[in-house]
This record gives sequence, structure tokens and C-alpha cells, in this order.
Amino acid sequence: MLITFEGIDGSGKSTQIAMLAQWLGGRGATVLTLREPGGTTFSEAVRSVLLSTKHEIHPRAELLLFEAARAQLVETVIRPALGRNIIVICDRFADSSTAYQGYGRGLSVSDVENCNFMATGGLKPDITFFLDIPIETAFERAAGRNGSTADRMEQSGRDFFERVREGYTLIATTEKERFRIIRADSTPQKVHEAVCSEISELIAQYTAKA
Ligand SMILES: Nc1ncnc2c1ncn2[C@@H]1O[C@H](COP(=O)(O)OP(=O)(O)O)[C@@H](O)[C@H]1O
Ligand SMILES: [Mg+2]
Repeated sequence: MLITFEGIDGSGKSTQIAMLAQWLGGRGATVLTLREPGGTTFSEAVRSVLLSTKHEIHPRAELLLFEAARAQLVETVIRPALGRNIIVICDRFADSSTAYQGYGRGLSVSDVENCNFMATGGLKPDITFFLDIPIETAFERAAGRNGSTADRMEQSGRDFFERVREGYTLIATTEKERFRIIRADSTPQKVHEAVCSEISELIAQYTAKA
């Protein structure tokens, strides 16, 4: 089973993934947590290029780098893990490209979706949590976390993140079956409970099938 978390930086993805992984582990599941871009030596190298403030990267080049990192992660890590019945939790996945490079940067959303399809080979998450939070709150949290150093993506400005948030909302309402929109501006524990209540049924089905 593939679980993905989406949302702007500071929405609480890393926090919630750690809590969910622990919760699933406590119920006897084997869990692998990954982040995008990343999760392989190649994909981590691409990540450092993408996040470095040394480079100015054209939106199409940016998209293709994210997709290259994704293709490597899917083929060499995610598919093999799913084949071994591991629950894979990924911090960002293809929806991030639709939201950031499509709605955020203004590339054609259908072009981005085609690139996503090529990179994933059509692999879709079983469930995707969109942690939704006002931009201001996310900015405050991110500031508390990084001090003053924003990476290349984080330097994109408020309007960009508003478009990304709206983009996520559109994707989530278009793919209602897969998405769960979680209000992420309450306490970590409350958000965790909302995530668990959505996932427990899926896990039950999953273990029943296995
Ligand atoms: N529900 C929450 N309420 C308040 N602060 C939070 C909450 N969830 C996470 N944080 C804090 O906000 C910051 C960003 O959270 P993080 O999980 O790193 O988000 P993301 O991975 O989406 O960027 C961290 O300092 C984290 O401790
Ligand atoms: Mg994070």
C-alpha cells in the first residue's frame, strides 16, 4: 500500500508521517518512509540541485528534474517495497508536481500529468492526505523551523504558494476517492487522529486481503 502526504511546506507532513509510521508500526505493519525528491542516492543528488539557491531553473527543467528523481525512486525503491507488502509512506509524490509546477509555476497541467505518468509508470497512491493550512500559518511554522534560510522552492513568494494551495484543492476535489483533505492548523495530535481515522478502514481491508 502506498500512502502519500501533500501540502505546502510547514503544513506538518514530516511531523504526521513520523506519527503515522509509529502508529502503523505499533500495529505490526512493516513501514518504509520516503521523501520526494529523494530516497535514492541519485534522487537525493537531484534534490540538492533543485533546492540549491545557486541555480536559476526554468519551470520545464524543474519539472523534468523532479520527474527524473521520481522515476528512479518508483522503480528502484517503491515498486520493490510494494511487492514485498510493505506500507510505503511518501512525503510528497506526483501531486506535488501538478500543484507546484502546474498550478504554481503555470505549466500546462495536462503536460505535468503526462510527465507524472511517465515517471510513475502509472503507479497511483492508494490514499493521499492533503494537509491544508493557511499560507500565513505555514510561513510562521517554516520560519520557526529554518530560521532565515529558505531553499530555492521556498523563495517562490506568497502568490506562488496561494496558487499551489488552490491547485491542491482542485486536485483533491477532482480525485475525491483517493484524497483526504485534512485541516492541518490544529494540534499535531488532533491532525494525527484525523489521519488515523481515515486510514484504519483501509488498513483493515489491507490486512484482511493479505
Ligand atoms: N499541528 C501543528 N501545530 C503546530 N506546529 C506544528 C504542527 N505540525 C508541525 N508543526 C511544526 O511546524 C513545523 C513544520 O512542520 P513539518 O512537519 O516539518 O512540515 P512539512 O514537513 O510539511 O514542511 C515544524 O517545526 C513542526 O514541529
Ligand atoms: Mg517536511
